[in-house]
Amino acid sequence: MTPNIIFAIETSCDETSTAIVNVATRTILAQHIYSQLPEHAPYGGVVPEIASRAHLERLPDLAAQTLAAAGLNWPDIDAVAATVGPGLTTALVVGTTFAKTLAIGLGKPFLATNHIEGHALSPLLAQTESGHALAQSFLHEGQPYLLLLVTGGHCQLVNVTAPGHYETLGSTLDDAVGECFDKVGKLLSLPHPAGPAIEQLAKSGNPSAITLPHPKTDNPLAFSFSGLKTAVRELITKHQTPDTTTLNPADLAASFQSTVATILSRKTAAAIKHTGTKHVVVAGGVAANATIRQALLETCQSLGVTLTAPPLILCTDNAAMIAYAAGLRTAYGLDTGTLATRVLPRWPLEDMSALTPTSAL
Ligand code: KG4
Ligand code: ZN
Repeated sequence: MTPNIIFAIETSCDETSTAIVNVATRTILAQHIYSQLPEHAPYGGVVPEIASRAHLERLPDLAAQTLAAAGLNWPDIDAVAATVGPGLTTALVVGTTFAKTLAIGLGKPFLATNHIEGHALSPLLAQTESGHALAQSFLHEGQPYLLLLVTGGHCQLVNVTAPGHYETLGSTLDDAVGECFDKVGKLLSLPHPAGPAIEQLAKSGNPSAITLPHPKTDNPLAFSFSGLKTAVRELITKHQTPDTTTLNPADLAASFQSTVATILSRKTAAAIKHTGTKHVVVAGGVAANATIRQALLETCQSLGVTLTAPPLILCTDNAAMIAYAAGLRTAYGLDTGTLATRVLPRWPLEDMSALTPTSAL
């Protein structure tokens, strides 16, 4: 019997998360997310050693809380999934080892899961009209969707033709979009990760105040954000000299955010025309940004295609998307690794052959 009630663990970076998902009904039975932000804040970025230690300390309690919140007992769990990559090696090892141990103890399968695939399929968990419509067209009618994946480590446009089948149309040539938000935030002395802080600051700024450059890429569906980041740095450096007018940080944040929203929208429009898709999905932490969501919505509406964006809780890192991706892979008879599958700190979406282990952890 295909496993349906999946318990999952996500520890790829600085969020410790556990969740239980019913795959057939696409419902999250329970989920807990512990954000380690305060623990990393004094260092201005994620410290792998602190992340893995915090995962280790939090996981046992979170796992028990999630099971209780779902109103289930351990024998009710059909399989145990964990993010095995991509992410921070030592952080991945904690969640993966915990999940493998749990699976062995319960006598249930262990499902090795790709974090990016979790993001890619996360909009199918959206309990909204567009989420249900996407599930109907993708899962039941076999229609592909165009994925705009915008996280702290990735920025890519992917043609998703079926679960487990991903064709990358364009990726970033340098910085990921979330990384660009974080670096610009650092220049503005905002706390890490700076995406939400830039969005907040931008609310009181004028998005047309400052003109920033748009990247040029040979592949029109590829991205580049390092030039934008450099332009912001040069602007800040220039305005720190005493003979120039002061630069309003809120205007800079708003102009930067609006430039990113325009870049993402234009690239997405080009990819819609290239693929002829009828459905667009935006996923990943940066998809939490309301200005970007709105710009994408307007683009999709003008081209007559639907846009599905996951609810905010599913945009940033969470275990529910891992449970769902793992469950969907088993339901479609796709490889989900074995207890011997290693953690895969670098694991592109297209390379599922990486699941075949060369040695144990
Ligand atoms: O998907 P995610 O939670 O983790 C990765 O897998 O990378 O994405 C984290 C990224 C960070 O760079 C963070 O600054 C960005 O998502 N982010 C945002 C917002 N919320 C999170 N960027 C812009 N606006 C937001 N509201
Ligand atoms: Zn992520």
